[in-house]
Amino acid sequence: MKTAAEVCPLCAGTGWKPVPGTPDGGVKRCDCLLRARGGALIAAARIPKRYEHCELSNFDFEGPLSHLEHARMAAYRFVEEYPVDKTGLLLIGNAGSGKTHLAVGIAKALIQEKGIECVFYDYADLLKQIQDSYNPSVQTTELGLLRPVFEAEVLVLDDLGSVRPTDWRWDTVRLILNTRYNDGRTTIITTNFPNKPPGKPGGKPAADDEDDSPPRASAQDSSDQVKYTLGDRIGEPMRSRLHEMCRIVKMEGLDYRKKFKRARFV
Ligand SMILES: Nc1ncnc2c1ncn2[C@@H]1O[C@H](COP(=O)(O)OP(=O)(O)OP(=O)(O)O)[C@@H](O)[C@H]1O
Ligand SMILES: [Mg+2]
Repeated sequence: MKTAAEVCPLCAGTGWKPVPGTPDGGVKRCDCLLRARGGALIAAARIPKRYEHCELSNFDFEGPLSHLEHARMAAYRFVEEYPVDKTGLLLIGNAGSGKTHLAVGIAKALIQEKGIECVFYDYADLLKQIQDSYNPSVQTTELGLLRPVFEAEVLVLDDLGSVRPTDWRWDTVRLILNTRYNDGRTTIITTNFPNKPPGKPGGKPAADDEDDSPPRASAQDSSDQVKYTLGDRIGEPMRSRLHEMCRIVKMEGLDYRKKFKRARFV
């Protein structure tokens, strides 16, 4: 049994604290519960080490980055309105425009402020893990691997379309995103590819396009033309489904890696 000193004075141990000024005695999750849950949720969120520093509060949006103010606002609004509004976000922009930073910042804010379970997956890594876990003798994929992808309350899917499409990849991404959509779960997606229909007949790369490199390599330099569209990389039906699942946030602009980090540390 807890002593009076151990019981949280805000919620008296219920995990819910009153919200002052709400007409019919509104409550929200208590800070003590969020603190206790937050550490475990952050550890389980699979945020890669190189993005651990990413927060909404350290996302620059001033001066030469003022074009990012609307994206930052959309991120704060998303956190504030979740889970009343569960529509996801599709962050679209060139390499280094801050898409992953913002997506990770949102996930961390949801965890810390609302105790929401979020998991991060890089698209290419996820497809590879699924492929590697496939057991041909029983024709199944390890369910333990897929469960968090299907069931996490919020999934961050980073770099959608970053690997060359194949039928298997299209089927897999369709299964993941449709399952989450049908189950009313929220997905935050980042991509480098312009939000346009397929530029090539049928949406699949032509035989002479069989290289895996173009999105990142060509998109690294914003002056280069991006070779493919989002429709090319995930198929038009899936691209159109994303418009039902997500609000589009455009983040085209400077490559922060090139223009700012270097300037700061030399
Ligand atoms: N507006 C910003 N404020 C602070 N840091 C930023 C901003 N934009 C980018 N960064 C930093 O620059 C680096 C690259 O950003 P990020 O990985 O988010 O870009 P990206 O758009 O996801 O690029 P890519 O398409 O290559 O994945 C990260 O370390 C990130 O923290
Ligand atoms: Mg990224």
